[in-house]
Amino acid sequence: MSKPNPHIVILTGAGISAESGLGTFRDVGGLWSRYDWRDLATPEGFARDPGFVLAFYNWRRERVRAARPNPAHVALARLQRHWRGGVTLITQNVDDLHEEAGSEDVIHMHGTHLRALCAACGHRWPAPETMAASDPCPACARPATRPDVVWFGETPYHMDRIGRALTGAGLFVSIGTSGTVYPAAGFAAAARQAGARTCELNLEPSENAGHFDEARHGPASRVVPDWVASLLD
Ligand code: OAD
Repeated sequence: MSKPNPHIVILTGAGISAESGLGTFRDVGGLWSRYDWRDLATPEGFARDPGFVLAFYNWRRERVRAARPNPAHVALARLQRHWRGGVTLITQNVDDLHEEAGSEDVIHMHGTHLRALCAACGHRWPAPETMAASDPCPACARPATRPDVVWFGETPYHMDRIGRALTGAGLFVSIGTSGTVYPAAGFAAAARQAGARTCELNLEPSENAGHFDEARHGPASRVVPDWVASLLD
């Protein structure tokens, strides 16, 4: 017999913030259909042209600061507050819309637009409105400022904690992610192997569709509140 209030582990991706106006990466018109990720989301691209990369992230940061949470973010915050089994919220997103909606202890496995990172000494600080390649690090003074986001070829953050959460999950839910970028794309299979039920909430079946026991398709602003209501109400 399954437990009445299993621990829920949720993974979110760009699709949950799409209706907040932030767009996605791989849909038609998505960021990676307009820009080459090798130029904008790799340490090598940054080394080649830091000014271009920082200008791109300055633009993205401005959009993130202007965006507001949508009903999907709000519903997950409500679930976190009321679900007795506890909810671990992992996001691949570098926006702060989960926090703005009231979620706490969000695991930002791909970092955040709202922090700067010194590529030389690893110091982190709140991101200024705009970053320039000549900005000195407040700790070591070297001009190595970059956004604190995880680029391709770098190791995502908090993987130990995420591994423990997946092992302890009774239910794993993936929301608004295409299931193409590892390690996140492997979480559903890992949670299922550890004994969790798995569920996908996405506009359409993801690349990972075969790893889910249940799926609900549609826009996150509708599907996520409906799913949360089915658990809480
Ligand atoms: P993708 O752009 O790959 O996938 C977005 C998913 O959201 C797709 O499956 C869409 O069908 C779905 N979607 C779009 N609009 C939606 C809506 N309104 N409601 C629900 N679902 C919707 O984005 P991610 O999977 O998040 O990493 O991408 C993963 C990583 O790739 C990102 O974190 C980023 C990117 O390169 C780095 O930059 C390191």
